[in-house]
Amino acid sequence: MYKYSKQLTILLLSVFIIACGGDTPKKSTTPKKPTKKTVVESKPVKKEEPIKEEVEEVEPEKKEEAQSEPVPPEQLKKAKEIVSSADASDIDAKKLYRLHCTICHGAKGDMKINGAKDLSISKIGLEESVAQIYFGKGLMTPYNNLLSEDQILAVAKYSETLRR
Ligand code: HEC
Repeated sequence: MYKYSKQLTILLLSVFIIACGGDTPKKSTTPKKPTKKTVVESKPVKKEEPIKEEVEEVEPEKKEEAQSEPVPPEQLKKAKEIVSSADASDIDAKKLYRLHCTICHGAKGDMKINGAKDLSISKIGLEESVAQIYFGKGLMTPYNNLLSEDQILAVAKYSETLRR
């Protein structure tokens, strides 16, 4: 009886070991697959580099010209009347200019305060100057209520003498 019982325990133990450890070799092969996936995922990271080089774009050409908008035709018509009919001969234009215009244009016309145009490099005609002084433009106030037509023509002519 003693011999049989020893053989029986060995048999039972061997059956128990086979039943439990039978699956262990299969589990060891499965974790190899995720390591292959990590290698594949690292590839798209390298593709981001050429995208950064394409960001540089050609800058649009700067077309900023200092030319001001043309004087409206109805203002130019009035200015033509002033130029042909007004008499600026008896007026101290320099005194008027100093009184009314130096605040923005300066004594020599090149101050450009409050965005005023540089009169020393101005290329506009006398009629356009008269129109701008009479009606004003942008930040320049109109002078049709402050100065007579004779005085406006006088300062317009004086502003032309400031040109280099
Ligand atoms: C409040 C500031 C100011 C005062 C005062 C002023 N101006 Fe002007 N002037 C300007 C500005 C601003 C411009 C430009 C207007 C624009 O083109 O938008 C200008 C433009 C001009 C121009 C046109 C120049 C060009 O080439 O286009 C003439 C001429 C001129 N002024 C003459 C005068 C005279 C003469 C007086 C005095 C009677 C005078 N200004 C007083 C601000 C002023």
